[in-house]
Amino acid sequence: MKDWFTFVYKLCRKGSPPASSSVKDWLAIGSVISLWEGGGDVVEFGVYQGGTSAILSKICALRNRRLFLFDSFQGFPNLQEYSLGDEVLQDRHTALPYRASIERAKQTVEKYGEPDVVTWVPGFFSETLPKQVEPEKICVAYVDVDLPLSQKEAYEWIWPRLIPGGFFFTHEVPTALKHKTYDLTNLQVLSRSMGVIQKKVS
Ligand SMILES: C[S@@+](CC[C@H](N)C(=O)[O-])C[C@H]1O[C@@H](n2cnc3c(N)ncnc32)[C@H](O)[C@@H]1O
Repeated sequence: MKDWFTFVYKLCRKGSPPASSSVKDWLAIGSVISLWEGGGDVVEFGVYQGGTSAILSKICALRNRRLFLFDSFQGFPNLQEYSLGDEVLQDRHTALPYRASIERAKQTVEKYGEPDVVTWVPGFFSETLPKQVEPEKICVAYVDVDLPLSQKEAYEWIWPRLIPGGFFFTHEVPTALKHKTYDLTNLQVLSRSMGVIQKKVS
């Protein structure tokens, strides 16, 4: 845990990688990974330029965990279909398409993170997830994919693999609450955009 905070502290002083998530978000997810004592791997859905992935790779390396990164690496899928009729979202993402190549994301992870712990899963979720086997067990998931249908695809693949007690973080609180494409009963809202659901231990 101490190593993790030293790393974040130094990062804040030196300048952090480009990302849409903030240091506050990284601290929340990183602390949970740091404190998790059970098994399982970490996944991030929605990588873009790899800024958050680099940070997560660092904490995964410190805790000896694997990190799986899922993204098309060519921006969003069909905006009209995946926005579920939400014109505000559609317009926002037409203006800002979050398109970055896998080479760009790899450069960021190499510069700021620990590439050795990373497995890259490039492609649209609708194509990659049906044949994706690993990881079979997930302890922490971070989903930052903006569009409601992308959130649904990610959630439906992650949830059965999430270990009881494990954490599902979303960077999409307003969209998730508006479109309700998955079960939000136990969502804890951490900030305007960040929320977390801990899977119940039955
Ligand atoms: C907001 S960006 C992620 C930002 C990143 N987490 C960060 O902290 O900088 C959203 C990403 O989700 C990806 N994405 C959204 N829907 C997707 C889908 N259905 N399949 C694959 N990638 C998707 C886009 O390609 C984009 O890179």
